[in-house]
Amino acid sequence: MNLLTFDSHAKLHESGAGIITGLVQTNPRAVLGLATGGTPVGIYEELVKDYRRGLTRFKDVTTFNLDEYVGLPEDHAESYRNYMNMHLFHHIDLPRTRAHIPDGNAADPEAECRRYDQLLEQAGQIDLQLLGLGHNGHIGFNEPDHALISGTHVVQLREETRRANARFFDSMEQVPTHALTMGVGTILKARMILLVVKGADKADIVHRALTGPITTDCPASLLQTHPHLVVLMDAEAGRLFA
Ligand code: F6R
Repeated sequence: MNLLTFDSHAKLHESGAGIITGLVQTNPRAVLGLATGGTPVGIYEELVKDYRRGLTRFKDVTTFNLDEYVGLPEDHAESYRNYMNMHLFHHIDLPRTRAHIPDGNAADPEAECRRYDQLLEQAGQIDLQLLGLGHNGHIGFNEPDHALISGTHVVQLREETRRANARFFDSMEQVPTHALTMGVGTILKARMILLVVKGADKADIVHRALTGPITTDCPASLLQTHPHLVVLMDAEAGRLFA
């Protein structure tokens, strides 16, 4: 595990984007696993800047997002498809046909999960999986539980997760109750995992996840078993590692 702490968000974002562009420059056909939420926005901004400078091309890259809400129209401001379009996809030359996100409006969500797993299978291994961290230790939308699911599945979001995400919606009632998420098995199969954690409110959970017992009560703790985990933290999130 490689833990890096940054004294500014600018440096953290540049470093995160640099790891991704370095990979894509050496392997233009890289398969990237992508995350949404507040944490990666600055990294996506750096990727767009890099693309505009003509340094990195994404035309042969394939991406798989971790998750999508169930029941939000694709063009809803808070759907993860819309988030990705706004923050990254509309600004780079990644072909839409290779930018995969689970379809949260599929008539048969279980069949959609199987379709997503087949696509992942066909793409081979994810070269780099970008992750944020939930306050309860979730990764993707794999919530703490007595058992975790390996492949893509439908999940009922925990109350605390909906509360944390309510900041993006007008009210708590508008936050979807369910999502489709890649499973922990798929996440752990990635060649490299880039976990990004920011803010004092994540200091306890990131410390527990990376130094505490490996348990499904804290899904991120399973990352301790990964052979190539890189963690980027701001000083506030990383304060317990001193
Ligand atoms: C997003 C995702 C979630 C978030 C986590 C942290 O695709 O899978 O696990 O990474 O909820 O969210 P933020 O970054 O908003 O604190």
